[in-house]
Amino acid sequence: MSQEKLKVLFAASEVVGFAKTGGLADVAGALPKAIKKLGHDIIVVMPRYYQIDKSQLTKLEAPLGVPMGAMGELWAGVYTTTLAQSEVPVYFIDYERYFGRSGLYDDHEGSFEDNANRFIFFSKAALQLCKMLHFTPDIIHANDWHTAAIPLLMKTRFVHDFAFAKSVLTIHNLQHQGNFHKNIMDVMEVGWDHYNSHEFESMNSVNLLKGGIMHADAVTTVSKKYAQEIQTPEFGFGLQDHIGAHSDKLFGILNGVDYDEWNPSVDNLIAKKYDIDDMSGKLECKRDIQRHFNLEVRENVPLIGFVGRFVEQKGIGLIATVINGLLDMDVQIVMLGAGEKWADGFFGNVAYHRPNFGLHVGYSDGLAHKIEAGCDMFLMPSLFEPCGLNQIYSLRYGTLPIVRATGGLDDTIVNFDEHHQHGNGFKFYDAAPEALYYTVLWAVEIYYKDKAAFKDMQERAMKEHFSWDDSAKSYEAVYQYILNRHNTPKPIL
Ligand code: ADP
Ligand code: GLC
Repeated sequence: MSQEKLKVLFAASEVVGFAKTGGLADVAGALPKAIKKLGHDIIVVMPRYYQIDKSQLTKLEAPLGVPMGAMGELWAGVYTTTLAQSEVPVYFIDYERYFGRSGLYDDHEGSFEDNANRFIFFSKAALQLCKMLHFTPDIIHANDWHTAAIPLLMKTRFVHDFAFAKSVLTIHNLQHQGNFHKNIMDVMEVGWDHYNSHEFESMNSVNLLKGGIMHADAVTTVSKKYAQEIQTPEFGFGLQDHIGAHSDKLFGILNGVDYDEWNPSVDNLIAKKYDIDDMSGKLECKRDIQRHFNLEVRENVPLIGFVGRFVEQKGIGLIATVINGLLDMDVQIVMLGAGEKWADGFFGNVAYHRPNFGLHVGYSDGLAHKIEAGCDMFLMPSLFEPCGLNQIYSLRYGTLPIVRATGGLDDTIVNFDEHHQHGNGFKFYDAAPEALYYTVLWAVEIYYKDKAAFKDMQERAMKEHFSWDDSAKSYEAVYQYILNRHNTPKPIL
């Protein structure tokens, strides 16, 4: 493959270290570094949310003009710094009216009403930024609905500046498509002829992701299994046929792990570091979690953790149905997350009544690391999961995942096989409470009755390596393919 240096603009609505609500931020903070390591020139752009401290950033002198239809040109500030432990520049689009509020997409009252304007503005600002920096990208890499207008903007409103650039749209979660009133066609300024059932129109409104899928030169999603699943009614959220029609440009590329951050041998956020050759630190981490959640401090009890958004996707309905049954086993369970109000209340009530259950409602990066390190098993019974990062982090911490076989969970977790002593976790298939219950029961039995098998499995898990370098090479192959440089063949991904 040619080692030609490509210029890439990576646009994301969140980037770890600056603003994060989920895995998209982890990807946006790590993948660009791996692409840079391959020798490419990549820059990242994101909004400057209120929570991002400007005093830590460098301000660029010139303001950025962003055309917004009838609103005329709006003027944004631009700040910059680099991604942690790298030389990848990150640019922040600063516009008080859209981003100067707490919350990235919503607050306690729900989604922001002007989300369409906010992210169309951001998408256009990302393109204007390239012009301002005299950065002529070969590839513009957009992510999720927030930046899904970019592929068409490049071909219409901004065609003079991006005539030779190609676009990639990565779908991290098909559930969120960016559905808005059709009048936002005027804000996009791409022409109403693109408002039709093959492009942006869906049920009499605009669907940004749908249009992005149509216009991107390549569409990727974050695991191979999910790339298949989203072409079916069960996982397609109404877009299955549209995606199927574009499957010739769809690729599944599994996310990697930033092992500078998620690794018990270097993790400064956990009680004691450890690794395969000396696991004593893991026990210290277990005690730390037991103390943190006011659980009985005991070595020989399976401690099961959950970290994630409390939304249906993550299988919290399944957990809620069986939680009391699970807690009747001799186990301890801890959960960190926040989201749907019923779940915050429901699990709060369980925590009040059950001494072997601990709950932290909220967002805490430090506690997420401590749970990964201190638990024996990690619960992820998702109804769907495009990739899922926590189960992969868990492997590195020797915390065996208990997962439902869907999307990236199915691609990364190999079910324990008692006869061949094979596998790195426990898997179930039906999205049914009994399936979850009996799989946890099975894992708990192995924990108590076959310590050697459990320990071997932990070792196998810790030895696995999900490298961003490999993922970056796959993205590079897609970039080369759509640029059609040197007749690059279609990558098999
Ligand atoms: P998703 O992006 O669907 O939320 P992922 O598994 O890809 O799921 O990524 C979730 C990321 O967000 C992980 O890094 C996880 O540790 C983190 N995370 C989720 N909820 C919380 C929370 N309440 N506190 C801290 N980190 C969280
Ligand atoms: C999404 C998905 C998750 C994935 C993450 C990063 O939020 O829900 O499965 O790991 O994006 O790609």
